[in-house]
Amino acid sequence: MSTLSKIDLKKTPQHIAIIMDGNGRWAKKQGEVRLFGHTSGVEAVREVLKGCVDMGVRYLTLYAFSTENWNRPKEEVDGLMNLMVETIANEVDELNSNNVRLRSIGDESKLPDACRNELAKAKNATYSNSGVDLILALNYSARWEMLNAVQNIAKKVERGEIKANAITKSSFENELCMNDVPDPELLIRTSGEYRLSNFLLWQIAYAELYFTDKLWPDFSREDLFKAVLDYQGRERRFGKVSEQLIN
Ligand code: IPE
Ligand code: IPE
Ligand code: MG
Repeated sequence: MSTLSKIDLKKTPQHIAIIMDGNGRWAKKQGEVRLFGHTSGVEAVREVLKGCVDMGVRYLTLYAFSTENWNRPKEEVDGLMNLMVETIANEVDELNSNNVRLRSIGDESKLPDACRNELAKAKNATYSNSGVDLILALNYSARWEMLNAVQNIAKKVERGEIKANAITKSSFENELCMNDVPDPELLIRTSGEYRLSNFLLWQIAYAELYFTDKLWPDFSREDLFKAVLDYQGRERRFGKVSEQLIN
């Protein structure tokens, strides 16, 4: 029995978020340069996206470049930006044929022009697709996102538009990047690292966390199905006790 057939498709997560990690180690294992690992990781993105289409997952958020990743050697950063430009341009037809809408979160203003332009073109070209929203976190970090939200709210208070004590969970969330998207129910991190590395800290308050030793370029559609199956075996209590969850 395949893993997909064991999944209850009525109870798949609406939103899956993934920290795609381990490209560098994957490349090193084969005696290749780190960039080869990043290039090979693109195939895993295709696989995971198809898996989301198969399961009817509505939102897929992928951590592609963090605000801290600028601190890597220039050669790697440049290579990653070029890869982003090439990949985004090459994948538009495939995104359209799978009814995928491309979106992004993060501070785009710091990305190279070519990357911003390609991203804008691909977003426009896929805008009316309604199957899966593929949300790329590019120059993203949760602390950047939350500080940004706090600054926007403070400006509204300064202008007298709202009172400080009227700031609520929902008005705060309105200032976050994905304010129309439900929180991820499932967060996956590959490569055997057990940390969040500044990803979606607000939105994953109640996400189920799934860690796997697989390095990102080796992560397959089947691995995604295994993660979802594992998720479906968990009891999400949200602070309650088991007996309260029966209905
Ligand atoms: C994840 O793989 C991709 C990015 C962070 C851009 P890494 O490049 O972090 O690979 P490792 O963790 O060094 O193996
Ligand atoms: C997290 O991976 C960022 C992305 C996957 C884009 P890193 O490899 O940068 O995280 P750390 O440095 O190991 O925490
Ligand atoms: Mg890493």
